[in-house]
Amino acid sequence: MKKNFVSLAVIGAFVAFGSQSAMAAPDWSKAAKSTIHVFHPGAAPIEWVQGKGEHSGASGLKKGEACAGCHIEDGKLSLDTKRLVSKEMEPKGGPKTATYPVTVQAAYDAANLYVRLSFKAPAGGFDHSDKENDVKATIMFPNDKVPLAEQAGCWAACHQDSKGMPGAKDKTKYVSAGALDLVQWASSGKSVDGYVADKRHMDGGKAGATAEGAKAGDTYTVTFTRKLTGNAVLAPGKAVPFGIAIHADHAAGRFHHVSFGHTIGLGADGDVKAAKQ
Ligand code: HEC
Repeated sequence: MKKNFVSLAVIGAFVAFGSQSAMAAPDWSKAAKSTIHVFHPGAAPIEWVQGKGEHSGASGLKKGEACAGCHIEDGKLSLDTKRLVSKEMEPKGGPKTATYPVTVQAAYDAANLYVRLSFKAPAGGFDHSDKENDVKATIMFPNDKVPLAEQAGCWAACHQDSKGMPGAKDKTKYVSAGALDLVQWASSGKSVDGYVADKRHMDGGKAGATAEGAKAGDTYTVTFTRKLTGNAVLAPGKAVPFGIAIHADHAAGRFHHVSFGHTIGLGADGDVKAAKQ
């Protein structure tokens, strides 16, 4: 009798340990909150951003300045969002809500980085071609071989010949060198562990990334878990570049709201501060 009890207790402890390590969720009440504003980018690919005549930021970019350095002041966007939904930059039509805030938290342990986004996805989108998903939330991490990784975040992957751009071909996101880890949560319940290199790969990610999400009231909360290893290698004590994209109201393709390139500091300073847990 006693022997049975002991083995059950051992099994119980083992099961509890097993499920805990599978979840390993950080205590989000201990994680600092940052606000990042996402916006409809219009048809402004990296070629437009780097083209001197049209974008006066191009010369600053060439000198090494970051998008966020010019376009974010005191945590707020310094960007003409009306222009981004105007015919000049958005020939098809923009969403009614050009920009909205996303609360971002992060934490890490010996194996993983955890990132949590909370946001209210606005209605009134222009494009509704994703019939399956009301909302998709994606984060990407460029590695250090991606051109402009630290200055431009995901923008290095956004090109004028990509699908959905005015007059474009059928290419997906791509970069001329290096790779970005991509992890996506979709409200239909699927998650994607992929990467962007020569093209966008919606599987075969190297960061073992997973995503979970839920809607409570009108707020979505999405949690991403990825290894510290991957295309982008995340080192404690350092800040890593990353970017956010959210497809709201059944939007697909380029009709997302995106962030500029931001950083997550793993036990270091950054736009988002991740403490070790
Ligand atoms: C040196 C400062 C500077 C940098 C760096 C910079 N920009 Fe700009 N950007 C500007 C200014 C000034 C404008 C407004 C006037 C114009 O269009 O030239 C602008 C305009 C824009 C616009 C059009 C909306 C608007 O407000 O007129 C977009 C989109 C944009 N920038 C994106 C980017 C992205 C993406 C990056 C980084 C890859 C970037 N910018 C880097 C200064 C900068």
